[in-house]
Formats: sequence, structure tokens, C-alpha cells
Amino acid sequence: MAKHDLDPNYLDPNYEPVVNHSENTPFHQVLSARMQRRTVMKGSVGAALASVMGLGLAGCGSDSDSDNDGGTTGGNTSTTELGFKAVPTSTANQVVVPEGYSSEAFLPWGTPITGSYPAYKPDGTNTGEEQEQQMGMHHDGVHFFPIDLKAGGNSSSEGLLVMNHEYINQGALHANGATYINGMRPADEVRKEIAAHGVSVVHIKRDNNGKWDIVFGSPFNRRVTGNTEMDIRGPVRGYDKLVTKYSPDATETRGTLNNCAMGPTPWGTYLAAEENWHGYFANSDATQPREQTRHGVGDSSRYDWELADSGADQYVRFDVTPTGASAADDYRNEANTYGFMVEIDPFTPESKPQKRTALGRFGHEGVIFAPVKEGEPVVCYSGDDSRFEYIYKFVSSKPYYAATAGGYLLDEGTLYVARFNDDGSGDWLALDLNDADFAAKVAAAQGEMVGNVQFDGFENQADVLLNTRLAADIAGATPMDRPEWGAVDPNSGQVYFTLTNNSRRTEEQVNAANPNANNRTGHIIRWSEDGNDHTATSFDWDIFVFAGEQGTETVVDDQVIVSLTDDNIFNSPDGLWFDYNGRLWIQTDGSDAAPYQNNMMLAANPETREIKRFFVGPVGCEVTGVVSTPDVKTMFVNIQHPEANWPDANDPRPRDATVIVTRNDGGVIGA
Ligand code: FEO
Ligand code: CA
Ligand code: CA
Repeated sequence: MAKHDLDPNYLDPNYEPVVNHSENTPFHQVLSARMQRRTVMKGSVGAALASVMGLGLAGCGSDSDSDNDGGTTGGNTSTTELGFKAVPTSTANQVVVPEGYSSEAFLPWGTPITGSYPAYKPDGTNTGEEQEQQMGMHHDGVHFFPIDLKAGGNSSSEGLLVMNHEYINQGALHANGATYINGMRPADEVRKEIAAHGVSVVHIKRDNNGKWDIVFGSPFNRRVTGNTEMDIRGPVRGYDKLVTKYSPDATETRGTLNNCAMGPTPWGTYLAAEENWHGYFANSDATQPREQTRHGVGDSSRYDWELADSGADQYVRFDVTPTGASAADDYRNEANTYGFMVEIDPFTPESKPQKRTALGRFGHEGVIFAPVKEGEPVVCYSGDDSRFEYIYKFVSSKPYYAATAGGYLLDEGTLYVARFNDDGSGDWLALDLNDADFAAKVAAAQGEMVGNVQFDGFENQADVLLNTRLAADIAGATPMDRPEWGAVDPNSGQVYFTLTNNSRRTEEQVNAANPNANNRTGHIIRWSEDGNDHTATSFDWDIFVFAGEQGTETVVDDQVIVSLTDDNIFNSPDGLWFDYNGRLWIQTDGSDAAPYQNNMMLAANPETREIKRFFVGPVGCEVTGVVSTPDVKTMFVNIQHPEANWPDANDPRPRDATVIVTRNDGGVIGA
């Protein structure tokens, strides 16, 4: 069966219909009157855009909050200089790292990591049950938890490497790709596909020769898949719209899917994001509820799991067409149990993953926590990666205390959405029916069309969270150019987000924070919360850099701050991470045509905006997911959807893998 979205390597993972029709563009209309400083893109591709203004604060990291204590392992500006020689662009089917560095592929898809450790079969004949004990496909967000973390330690030689498996390449997964018999799919193929999704927890250790390996038989080694039992937590738990045949009291579901980026919590757990989950469900009804239309659930699913020939309950649930007498008799609400951040405790292998609904339901790219302070609320940020979607912030109701912190902190709090004003200021708009401003906007929208949704109100706060995008439309959030990963500078406290691209934005739709129509190459935005207090409801923002070809300039107050060269051209920034010293790592998922060539990872000095290309991936891949050991001497970088026979040239199947990068002299990466 030909599926419109299944090319051989599924190279467009961003299968995202434009589903925000709300046209929240209230701010470009008030351009420039209050403008003091501005950031614009110029240069070879930006010249035509130079009249379009983005504004912000020139070097807003240069105020008093930039020279603070430097976080736990960071330091002052001198620790963020880039000491390596930039690598050129590359079209080679291999990883490229700078002189003096080495790289090695690790934990490719299919590597046995748990259970009976079934061997990877290069002919594609591993069963579904075997895949449940092996590394999943399409490695994405990744974090290294030192093995002694819970005891207050900081091991850089042993830990739990936890990573997401975003989606799959059916052609590589099976012996002969996806098959259909009389229009149905063999159930074990479906089982294998579901098992190749989810999260892997791998206990790893470095030996005396510096070589990393799995700790075989470790009780921590674990797979979480698209079929693992999970709890619904937070305000949406128990809400009628999550009632299913599987969970008539709306407290449980099965699986997590399309896990893109992640976020380690301050208490040593892992939050996996559910991004493009809408594509896994099918609804053949003529009309669909707003919980589906605002996300783009269609009449057929990406992989046709609902057509598994066994008819087993865990597969038919992906058909969300109402068929029974009530919601407890079918899976009309199954898609309402997806779109959340999912907490996994890697140190408690028997623990059940928890979907944290207070953080909202949307296309979560990932999550990033602000540094915690004893006795203060927990704050985290999450982007919704679709064209014209938003950036959110969660502030917990309860204070953080290291001794008692846990996932419960994520179950009560306020979810805000960002409005980027044209004068370089910004506001966090509460999506809370108890907030007078939001309640008034909800009342005013009653009976109106909000985008393509005829708005008939919210039943309660659970309904608001279930329909987070709709709530953000009503609040007046700023539609962004596809927010991907966020990162918080450990030295300055500034928050950075990648805005990967948005070729659909028209001249009429530009706003100061997304100033380029037909934005094909993306940019990185950053902000400082008022008073460097992450719970603040206002902030000051600035564009850190515009991506693009040689000569693309980021101009602040008529001064060229960045002009891209052969050493740092890039497009479509996606993965983003501050290492423990405060260097910023930027990963790309964009055009791999000239002049950019293969996707890459660059390092940036946040103080000077110096940017250098550090790493180039193999042909056809996206470079996504990066973390290091606490000493920043071993770096883990994920390669997703390589196009052909990588990392093993003798294996015809491309295998997603982690790449371990080290410095030959044992030094700090990037320094
Ligand atoms: Fe999964 Fe938005 O990248
Ligand atoms: Ca991504
Ligand atoms: Ca992307």
C-alpha cells in the first residue's frame, strides 16, 4: 500500500499539516513605534529581508545577571571559548570531527540491551518480541545520568544513558519492508514497529582503556515502548474525555510515541516528549472533535497499526473512530491520552511511566528546566514544533526541596504561553481559568470561530490542558517558526530556543520574533526573565543568530554581530544543549544540499556569538540529541535516519546510532 508519507527513508519526519488557523498575528501591526533596538537578518539570502525588523536587546547577557556564579560546573566567559578548529562541510557517509578528536558509533538500532539479549539480525528477521529487548530506531533526545547521582555523585565513567526513539524506517526494520495481506498488516510486524518506538535505558561503563560498553545483565537496562502501561497524572487524570475501553476511569493508557527531545528533571528522572503523535491514529468519521482537528489526526494512520491482522486490543486502539455505545466501549478517546511529557525514572526499573498533563498537551518537542532553587517553584519550558505554534512555560505550585523533590511537583502549577512583543519585551500568558485575563478572553471567544474550531467553551481546567493549542490561540500567543529544542545558559540564566524553519510564513504573517517570510533556514531566539527570576511573567528577548548561507548577517543596532562563513553556515537548527561549562551546542535537521551538505553540530560561545562547526553526520541523517558526561570529556551525539549502510559499510541496512566523541588528549570537549 502506498502511503503518502512513506518514502524509503521517511526523510521528512516533520509530517505536520498546518493546523493553526487562528492567525494570531496581533503584533506585527504595531511595529516599530516603541522600538529601541533591533535585530535583523542581512547578507546574501537576507538582503531582501533587511527591511523586515526583528528587535531585541543587544547582548542582553551583558547585564548584571551574566557574571553570576556560573552554575554548578560552569564558570565565567573564559570557559566558553571555542578552542578547536572548525571542520568543513561534508558529503561523506561518515562522521567528521575536528583534528585531535575521535568518534565511534555506539548502541546502533537493534543492539540487544535487556531480557535475553537477542542478537541483531542484519537480514531484518528479528521478531517483535526480540525488538522489545533491543535498541529502538531513530535515536533522538538523550541524557547521561551518572550512576551515583542519587548518592550525590558525579561519575563520568559509569551511568544510565537514556534516549528516545522518535519513529521508524519500515524499509530497514523488516526483511522486506511493511507488508499487507488482504489489506491487513501481519501482527508481529506491528508489534515490532511499536517496540522500535519509545525509550531505551542503558547502563553503560567505561573500561580502563577508555572504551564504553553496556553493563550486561544490569537491572537498569530497560525498554519502554509504544505499548508500555502508563499512568495519567495531573489535572487531566480522570477526565471524561480520556475514558477508553482500556481505562474506563481515565487514569491509564498504553505507550509513548514519537518521542523527540527530552529533559532531565532536577530529581534525576527523564521526561520524554510526545511530538508528532497525531499521525499514529486514524479517524474515518466525517467530523472530528477539536482535540483531534487542532492536531491534524487524519482518516488513515502513518503505519496502519490499527489494521494488525490479529485484531488485538493494543492495535485496534489506534482507530479512534467512535464505534461503541459509549467511550468506555471503544477508543474514540485514545488520542487524548497522547501529546504529553512522560516521566520515566531510570533508577527504578519497575516504575510505571507517568504522563504529566499539567505541562499541557501539544506537539511537545522536549522540555528544559531552569536551575532549581531550594524553596522556590520548579520552572520548565517546552516548545510545540509545528508551523505557527507556541512556546510554553510551566511553574509549579509547590516549592522545590531537594530532599523531597519528585514528579508530584509537575502535577500542580500554572501553564503559560509566550507572547513576544515587538519592542523586545515579552509576556507569559497564563492558561488558567482562574486567571482573570484568560477567563475574560475565553468568555469573549465563546461562540466564535477560533481558527477552524467553533469554540463552545472549556468545561474545566482539564479541558483547557487537553486543548492547550486552542487555549493558547485564545490567549493571544505569538505563532512561532516551529519551536524545537530549548536550553538554559548555566552562566547567564538566559533561555534559548531553536526556531527551525517555516516556509509557510507569508509577509503578512511576520512578527518581530519571526521576522522572515518564507523562513527556510531558521533562527535561534533567546530571552532573559525579568530579574533573572524564571517564575517571572515578563521577559526581554533577542535573536541570537539567523541561520543561512555564507554572508548571512545577524545585525543588532546596525552593527553586524554575526556574519556566517564557511566555518559555520548551517540551516534548520533543531537540537540545542548547553554543556556543563556553558558552551552552546546546535544541531541541524535541514537541507543537506549545497552549500550546507550533510547535517551537522556546531558549538557557540553565548557571550561572543562565535560559532564553529564541530561535527558533521553521515549522508541523509539528522543530527539530534547531545549530552556529555559531567566532566564534558565524553560526548554522546545521536545520528537519526542515516540514509545508507552506516555505521557499518557492510550492512545494507542503515542503523541509527549514538556517536561517542572524545578528545585524543583526554581534554574537555570544545575547549
Ligand atoms: Fe522531532 Fe521537531 O523534531
Ligand atoms: Ca527535533
Ligand atoms: Ca526538526
